[in-house]
Amino acid sequence: MTLAAPSIAERLRRDLKLPVIVAPMFLVSTPKLLLESCKAGLIGSLPTQNARTTAQLREWFNEIRDELATFRAAGGKPGGWAASVLVHNSYDRFPEELEMLQEYQPDIVVTALGSPKRVLKEVHGYGGAVFADVMSLEHARKAADAGADGLVLVCHGAGGHTGANSPFAFVSEVRRFFKGTIVVGGAISDGRGVLAAEVLGADLVYMGTRFIACPETMINDDYRRMMIDARMDGVVATKSVTGVQCSWLKESLIAAGFDDSRIASTAKIDFSDVHGELKPWKNIYGAGQGVGQVDSAATTAEVAAQLIGEYREVSAELMARARA
Ligand SMILES: Cc1cc2nc3c(=O)[nH]c(=O)nc-3n(C[C@H](O)[C@H](O)[C@H](O)COP(=O)(O)O)c2cc1C
Repeated sequence: MTLAAPSIAERLRRDLKLPVIVAPMFLVSTPKLLLESCKAGLIGSLPTQNARTTAQLREWFNEIRDELATFRAAGGKPGGWAASVLVHNSYDRFPEELEMLQEYQPDIVVTALGSPKRVLKEVHGYGGAVFADVMSLEHARKAADAGADGLVLVCHGAGGHTGANSPFAFVSEVRRFFKGTIVVGGAISDGRGVLAAEVLGADLVYMGTRFIACPETMINDDYRRMMIDARMDGVVATKSVTGVQCSWLKESLIAAGFDDSRIASTAKIDFSDVHGELKPWKNIYGAGQGVGQVDSAATTAEVAAQLIGEYREVSAELMARARA
Protein backbone atom coordinates (compact mmCIF):
# COMPACT_ATOMS: atom_id res chain seq x y z
CA MET A 1 0.00 0.00 0.00
CA THR A 2 1.32 3.48 -0.79
CA LEU A 3 1.48 6.42 1.61
CA ALA A 4 -1.47 8.00 -0.21
CA ALA A 5 -4.07 5.53 0.98
CA PRO A 6 -3.94 6.01 4.76
CA SER A 7 -3.73 9.78 4.43
CA ILE A 8 -6.89 9.93 2.31
CA ALA A 9 -8.74 7.54 4.62
CA GLU A 10 -7.70 9.56 7.69
CA ARG A 11 -8.66 12.85 6.12
CA LEU A 12 -12.06 11.53 5.08
CA ARG A 13 -12.79 10.17 8.55
CA ARG A 14 -11.88 13.53 10.06
CA ASP A 15 -13.69 15.82 7.64
CA LEU A 16 -16.91 14.06 6.68
CA LYS A 17 -20.19 14.94 8.38
CA LEU A 18 -21.52 11.54 7.38
CA PRO A 19 -19.56 8.56 5.98
CA VAL A 20 -21.41 8.62 2.65
CA ILE A 21 -20.31 8.78 -0.97
CA VAL A 22 -23.14 10.08 -3.14
CA ALA A 23 -22.60 7.37 -5.74
CA PRO A 24 -21.77 7.97 -9.41
CA MET A 25 -24.84 7.52 -11.60
CA PHE A 26 -24.94 7.43 -15.39
CA LEU A 27 -27.13 10.19 -16.86
CA VAL A 28 -28.08 11.28 -13.31
CA SER A 29 -24.98 12.76 -11.59
CA THR A 30 -23.92 16.32 -12.43
CA PRO A 31 -21.15 18.63 -11.22
CA LYS A 32 -23.85 20.45 -9.22
CA LEU A 33 -24.89 17.22 -7.41
CA LEU A 34 -21.22 16.50 -6.71
CA LEU A 35 -20.57 20.02 -5.39
CA GLU A 36 -23.70 20.15 -3.22
CA SER A 37 -22.80 16.75 -1.74
CA CYS A 38 -19.28 17.98 -0.94
CA LYS A 39 -20.55 21.20 0.61
CA ALA A 40 -22.95 19.19 2.78
CA GLY A 41 -19.97 17.28 4.20
CA LEU A 42 -20.37 14.07 2.17
CA ILE A 43 -18.25 12.78 -0.72
CA GLY A 44 -19.68 13.83 -4.08
CA SER A 45 -18.97 11.88 -7.24
CA LEU A 46 -19.43 11.78 -10.97
CA PRO A 47 -19.03 9.07 -13.60
CA THR A 48 -16.76 10.61 -16.24
CA GLN A 49 -18.90 9.21 -19.04
CA ASN A 50 -21.75 11.55 -18.02
CA ALA A 51 -19.95 14.29 -19.94
CA ARG A 52 -20.85 13.89 -23.61
CA THR A 53 -17.28 14.71 -24.68
CA THR A 54 -13.90 15.00 -23.01
CA ALA A 55 -14.08 18.77 -23.68
CA GLN A 56 -17.25 18.91 -21.59
CA LEU A 57 -15.59 16.79 -18.90
CA ARG A 58 -12.79 19.37 -18.73
CA GLU A 59 -15.37 22.17 -18.30
CA TRP A 60 -17.01 20.20 -15.48
CA PHE A 61 -13.69 19.52 -13.75
CA ASN A 62 -12.85 23.25 -14.00
CA GLU A 63 -16.23 24.10 -12.44
CA ILE A 64 -15.62 21.62 -9.59
CA ARG A 65 -12.10 22.90 -8.93
CA ASP A 66 -13.13 26.58 -9.00
CA GLU A 67 -16.25 26.21 -6.88
CA LEU A 68 -14.49 24.12 -4.23
CA ALA A 69 -11.70 26.72 -4.06
CA THR A 70 -14.29 29.50 -3.57
CA PHE A 71 -16.09 27.45 -0.91
CA ARG A 72 -12.83 26.79 0.96
CA ALA A 73 -11.78 30.46 0.68
CA ALA A 74 -15.07 31.42 2.39
CA GLY A 75 -14.24 29.10 5.31
CA GLY A 76 -16.26 26.08 4.09
CA LYS A 77 -15.05 22.53 4.68
CA PRO A 78 -16.04 20.32 1.74
CA GLY A 79 -16.27 16.57 2.31
CA GLY A 80 -14.39 15.25 -0.70
CA TRP A 81 -14.91 14.25 -4.31
CA ALA A 82 -14.58 11.20 -6.45
CA ALA A 83 -14.66 10.43 -10.16
CA SER A 84 -15.62 7.02 -11.42
CA VAL A 85 -14.05 5.80 -14.62
CA LEU A 86 -14.86 2.86 -16.88
CA VAL A 87 -11.77 0.69 -17.24
CA HIS A 88 -13.48 -1.75 -19.60
CA ASN A 89 -11.43 -2.33 -22.79
CA SER A 90 -14.27 -1.17 -25.03
CA TYR A 91 -14.27 2.34 -23.49
CA ASP A 92 -12.15 4.36 -25.91
CA ARG A 93 -12.06 7.67 -23.96
CA PHE A 94 -10.04 6.02 -21.18
CA PRO A 95 -6.50 7.29 -22.06
CA GLU A 96 -7.64 10.92 -22.34
CA GLU A 97 -9.70 10.69 -19.16
CA LEU A 98 -6.75 9.24 -17.24
CA GLU A 99 -4.67 12.29 -18.16
CA MET A 100 -7.46 14.56 -16.93
CA LEU A 101 -7.74 12.70 -13.64
CA GLN A 102 -4.04 13.36 -13.06
CA GLU A 103 -4.56 17.03 -13.81
CA TYR A 104 -7.68 17.63 -11.67
CA GLN A 105 -6.81 15.15 -8.92
CA PRO A 106 -10.06 13.90 -7.39
CA ASP A 107 -9.56 12.56 -3.84
CA ILE A 108 -10.80 9.16 -4.98
CA VAL A 109 -10.93 7.48 -8.39
CA VAL A 110 -13.42 4.62 -8.50
CA THR A 111 -12.82 2.04 -11.20
CA ALA A 112 -15.78 0.23 -12.71
CA LEU A 113 -16.02 -2.83 -14.97
CA GLY A 114 -12.33 -3.80 -14.96
CA SER A 115 -9.09 -3.87 -13.01
CA PRO A 116 -8.04 -0.89 -10.84
CA LYS A 117 -4.48 -1.62 -12.06
CA ARG A 118 -5.15 0.60 -15.08
CA VAL A 119 -5.14 3.76 -12.90
CA LEU A 120 -3.13 2.89 -9.77
CA LYS A 121 0.25 4.37 -10.67
CA GLU A 122 -1.20 7.62 -11.98
CA VAL A 123 -3.66 8.23 -9.12
CA HIS A 124 -1.17 7.30 -6.40
CA GLY A 125 1.28 9.59 -8.19
CA TYR A 126 -0.73 12.67 -7.19
CA GLY A 127 -1.71 11.33 -3.74
CA GLY A 128 -5.23 10.13 -4.58
CA ALA A 129 -6.84 6.85 -3.58
CA VAL A 130 -8.17 4.17 -5.91
CA PHE A 131 -11.35 2.34 -5.01
CA ALA A 132 -12.58 -0.57 -7.11
CA ASP A 133 -16.26 -1.20 -7.67
CA VAL A 134 -16.76 -4.97 -7.15
CA MET A 135 -19.76 -7.27 -7.07
CA SER A 136 -18.24 -10.66 -6.22
CA LEU A 137 -15.74 -12.11 -3.79
CA GLU A 138 -13.54 -13.09 -6.72
CA HIS A 139 -13.43 -9.52 -8.03
CA ALA A 140 -12.87 -8.18 -4.51
CA ARG A 141 -9.82 -10.46 -4.09
CA LYS A 142 -8.45 -9.53 -7.53
CA ALA A 143 -8.84 -5.79 -6.85
CA ALA A 144 -7.27 -6.15 -3.40
CA ASP A 145 -4.34 -8.10 -4.90
CA ALA A 146 -3.98 -5.44 -7.61
CA GLY A 147 -3.40 -2.85 -4.84
CA ALA A 148 -6.73 -0.98 -4.61
CA ASP A 149 -6.93 1.27 -1.54
CA GLY A 150 -10.64 0.71 -1.18
CA LEU A 151 -13.29 -1.73 -2.36
CA VAL A 152 -16.83 -0.68 -3.16
CA LEU A 153 -19.01 -3.69 -2.43
CA VAL A 154 -22.14 -3.28 -4.50
CA CYS A 155 -24.75 -5.51 -2.90
CA HIS A 156 -28.22 -6.82 -3.57
CA GLY A 157 -30.84 -4.12 -3.97
CA ALA A 158 -28.45 -1.50 -5.42
CA GLY A 159 -29.61 0.73 -8.25
CA GLY A 160 -27.93 0.67 -11.67
CA HIS A 161 -25.38 -2.15 -12.04
CA THR A 162 -26.59 -4.13 -9.09
CA GLY A 163 -25.05 -6.91 -7.00
CA ALA A 164 -26.37 -10.29 -5.89
CA ASN A 165 -24.67 -10.61 -2.50
CA SER A 166 -26.02 -9.84 0.93
CA PRO A 167 -24.04 -7.01 2.57
CA PHE A 168 -23.90 -9.09 5.78
CA ALA A 169 -21.94 -11.85 4.06
CA PHE A 170 -19.97 -9.65 1.66
CA VAL A 171 -18.57 -7.11 4.15
CA SER A 172 -17.64 -9.79 6.71
CA GLU A 173 -15.87 -11.98 4.15
CA VAL A 174 -13.95 -9.12 2.56
CA ARG A 175 -12.89 -7.87 6.00
CA ARG A 176 -11.14 -11.19 6.56
CA PHE A 177 -8.56 -10.47 3.86
CA PHE A 178 -8.72 -6.72 3.16
CA LYS A 179 -7.37 -4.03 5.51
CA GLY A 180 -8.18 -1.04 3.29
CA THR A 181 -11.33 1.08 3.09
CA ILE A 182 -14.57 -0.82 2.61
CA VAL A 183 -17.49 0.98 1.00
CA VAL A 184 -20.84 -0.79 0.91
CA GLY A 185 -23.78 0.04 -1.34
CA GLY A 186 -27.19 -1.35 -2.03
CA ALA A 187 -30.56 0.01 -0.92
CA ILE A 188 -29.08 2.11 1.89
CA SER A 189 -31.30 5.17 1.84
CA ASP A 190 -31.52 6.52 5.39
CA GLY A 191 -29.30 7.46 8.35
CA ARG A 192 -30.16 4.24 10.16
CA GLY A 193 -28.83 2.27 7.19
CA VAL A 194 -25.56 4.23 7.25
CA LEU A 195 -25.03 3.37 10.91
CA ALA A 196 -25.96 -0.26 10.22
CA ALA A 197 -23.31 -0.41 7.48
CA GLU A 198 -20.70 0.81 9.96
CA VAL A 199 -21.82 -1.83 12.46
CA LEU A 200 -21.32 -4.42 9.70
CA GLY A 201 -17.70 -3.28 9.38
CA ALA A 202 -17.87 -0.88 6.42
CA ASP A 203 -16.07 2.47 6.52
CA LEU A 204 -18.24 4.30 4.01
CA VAL A 205 -21.63 3.93 2.35
CA TYR A 206 -22.30 4.27 -1.39
CA MET A 207 -25.72 5.89 -1.76
CA GLY A 208 -27.21 6.54 -5.18
CA THR A 209 -30.97 6.02 -5.37
CA ARG A 210 -31.70 8.33 -2.40
CA PHE A 211 -30.34 11.31 -4.40
CA ILE A 212 -31.79 10.65 -7.89
CA ALA A 213 -34.87 12.87 -7.43
CA CYS A 214 -32.84 15.86 -6.18
CA PRO A 215 -33.16 18.94 -8.41
CA GLU A 216 -29.37 18.97 -8.95
CA THR A 217 -29.47 15.79 -11.07
CA MET A 218 -29.94 15.75 -14.86
CA ILE A 219 -33.07 13.57 -14.96
CA ASN A 220 -36.36 14.53 -16.63
CA ASP A 221 -39.68 15.18 -14.84
CA ASP A 222 -41.10 11.77 -15.78
CA TYR A 223 -38.18 9.96 -14.10
CA ARG A 224 -38.44 12.24 -11.03
CA ARG A 225 -42.16 11.55 -10.71
CA MET A 226 -41.61 7.78 -10.97
CA MET A 227 -38.91 7.98 -8.27
CA ILE A 228 -41.29 9.75 -5.90
CA ASP A 229 -44.19 7.38 -6.65
CA ALA A 230 -42.28 4.06 -6.60
CA ARG A 231 -41.81 1.80 -3.62
CA MET A 232 -39.51 -1.22 -3.26
CA ASP A 233 -41.68 -3.46 -5.43
CA GLY A 234 -41.49 -0.89 -8.25
CA VAL A 235 -37.93 -1.90 -9.20
CA VAL A 236 -36.77 -4.94 -11.14
CA ALA A 237 -33.24 -6.32 -11.72
CA THR A 238 -32.50 -7.76 -15.17
CA LYS A 239 -29.75 -8.28 -17.79
CA SER A 240 -32.21 -7.59 -20.59
CA VAL A 241 -31.37 -3.91 -21.05
CA THR A 242 -27.54 -3.60 -21.07
CA GLY A 243 -26.36 -7.21 -20.74
CA VAL A 244 -25.20 -6.47 -17.18
CA GLN A 245 -27.51 -7.10 -14.23
CA CYS A 246 -29.12 -3.70 -13.60
CA SER A 247 -31.94 -2.51 -11.40
CA TRP A 248 -34.61 -0.40 -13.13
CA LEU A 249 -37.92 1.29 -12.38
CA LYS A 250 -40.51 -1.24 -13.55
CA GLU A 251 -42.87 1.49 -14.77
CA SER A 252 -40.23 2.77 -17.21
CA LEU A 253 -39.47 -0.75 -18.52
CA ILE A 254 -43.14 -1.37 -19.22
CA ALA A 255 -43.47 2.04 -20.92
CA ALA A 256 -40.49 1.08 -23.14
CA GLY A 257 -42.33 -2.06 -24.27
CA PHE A 258 -40.64 -4.70 -22.12
CA ASP A 259 -42.80 -7.70 -21.29
CA ASP A 260 -41.97 -10.56 -18.90
CA SER A 261 -40.14 -12.67 -21.48
CA ARG A 262 -37.94 -9.77 -22.62
CA ILE A 263 -37.17 -8.89 -18.98
CA ALA A 264 -35.97 -12.50 -18.53
CA SER A 265 -33.61 -12.23 -21.56
CA THR A 266 -29.96 -11.02 -21.71
CA ALA A 267 -28.77 -8.18 -23.97
CA LYS A 268 -25.23 -7.85 -25.44
CA ILE A 269 -22.67 -5.85 -23.38
CA ASP A 270 -21.17 -2.83 -25.19
CA PHE A 271 -19.72 0.37 -23.73
CA SER A 272 -18.17 1.67 -26.95
CA ASP A 273 -20.74 4.40 -27.60
CA VAL A 274 -22.39 5.35 -24.33
CA HIS A 275 -24.00 8.51 -25.69
CA GLY A 276 -25.05 7.15 -29.06
CA GLU A 277 -26.93 3.91 -29.43
CA LEU A 278 -27.18 3.06 -25.75
CA LYS A 279 -30.65 4.50 -25.20
CA PRO A 280 -31.71 2.47 -22.13
CA TRP A 281 -30.58 4.96 -19.48
CA LYS A 282 -32.48 7.74 -21.29
CA ASN A 283 -35.97 6.24 -21.35
CA ILE A 284 -35.52 3.26 -19.03
CA TYR A 285 -34.72 4.60 -15.61
CA GLY A 286 -32.35 3.06 -13.04
CA ALA A 287 -33.20 2.85 -9.33
CA GLY A 288 -32.52 0.54 -6.40
CA GLN A 289 -34.70 -1.03 -3.73
CA GLY A 290 -34.11 1.97 -1.45
CA VAL A 291 -36.47 4.01 -3.67
CA GLY A 292 -39.17 3.85 -0.99
CA GLN A 293 -37.37 6.52 1.06
CA VAL A 294 -37.74 9.05 -1.76
CA ASP A 295 -40.93 11.06 -1.12
CA SER A 296 -40.11 14.41 -2.70
CA ALA A 297 -37.69 16.29 -4.92
CA ALA A 298 -35.84 17.66 -1.87
CA THR A 299 -32.47 19.33 -2.55
CA THR A 300 -29.18 17.53 -2.01
CA ALA A 301 -28.52 19.75 1.03
CA GLU A 302 -31.93 18.85 2.49
CA VAL A 303 -31.46 15.11 1.90
CA ALA A 304 -27.96 15.27 3.44
CA ALA A 305 -29.29 17.18 6.48
CA GLN A 306 -32.07 14.61 6.91
CA LEU A 307 -29.59 11.71 6.72
CA ILE A 308 -27.24 13.36 9.23
CA GLY A 309 -30.18 14.00 11.59
CA GLU A 310 -31.39 10.39 11.33
CA TYR A 311 -27.87 9.05 11.86
CA ARG A 312 -27.36 11.14 15.00
CA GLU A 313 -30.78 10.29 16.39
CA VAL A 314 -30.30 6.54 15.93
CA SER A 315 -26.73 6.71 17.32
CA ALA A 316 -28.03 8.44 20.46
CA GLU A 317 -30.88 5.92 20.74
CA LEU A 318 -28.45 3.00 20.55
CA MET A 319 -26.04 4.55 23.05
CA ALA A 320 -28.93 5.09 25.50
CA ARG A 321 -30.03 1.50 24.96
CA ALA A 322 -26.49 0.24 25.58
CA ARG A 323 -26.24 2.26 28.83
CA ALA A 324 -29.61 1.00 30.12
C1 LIG B 1 -29.48 5.42 -12.30
C2 LIG B 1 -28.20 4.84 -11.82
C3 LIG B 1 -27.08 4.93 -12.62
C4 LIG B 1 -25.86 4.37 -12.20
N1 LIG B 1 -24.77 4.52 -12.98
C5 LIG B 1 -23.58 4.08 -12.53
C6 LIG B 1 -22.40 4.34 -13.28
O1 LIG B 1 -22.42 4.98 -14.32
N2 LIG B 1 -21.23 3.87 -12.81
C7 LIG B 1 -21.17 3.15 -11.64
O2 LIG B 1 -20.08 2.75 -11.25
N3 LIG B 1 -22.26 2.91 -10.91
C8 LIG B 1 -23.46 3.37 -11.32
N4 LIG B 1 -24.58 3.17 -10.56
C9 LIG B 1 -24.46 2.44 -9.29
C10 LIG B 1 -24.17 3.40 -8.16
O3 LIG B 1 -22.89 3.96 -8.30
C11 LIG B 1 -24.27 2.69 -6.78
O4 LIG B 1 -23.56 1.48 -6.80
C12 LIG B 1 -25.71 2.41 -6.39
O5 LIG B 1 -26.52 3.52 -6.68
C13 LIG B 1 -25.81 2.10 -4.89
O6 LIG B 1 -27.05 1.55 -4.59
P1 LIG B 1 -28.37 2.43 -4.27
O7 LIG B 1 -28.79 3.02 -5.57
O8 LIG B 1 -29.31 1.41 -3.78
O9 LIG B 1 -28.03 3.46 -3.27
C14 LIG B 1 -25.79 3.70 -10.95
C15 LIG B 1 -26.92 3.64 -10.15
C16 LIG B 1 -28.12 4.20 -10.57
C17 LIG B 1 -29.31 4.13 -9.68
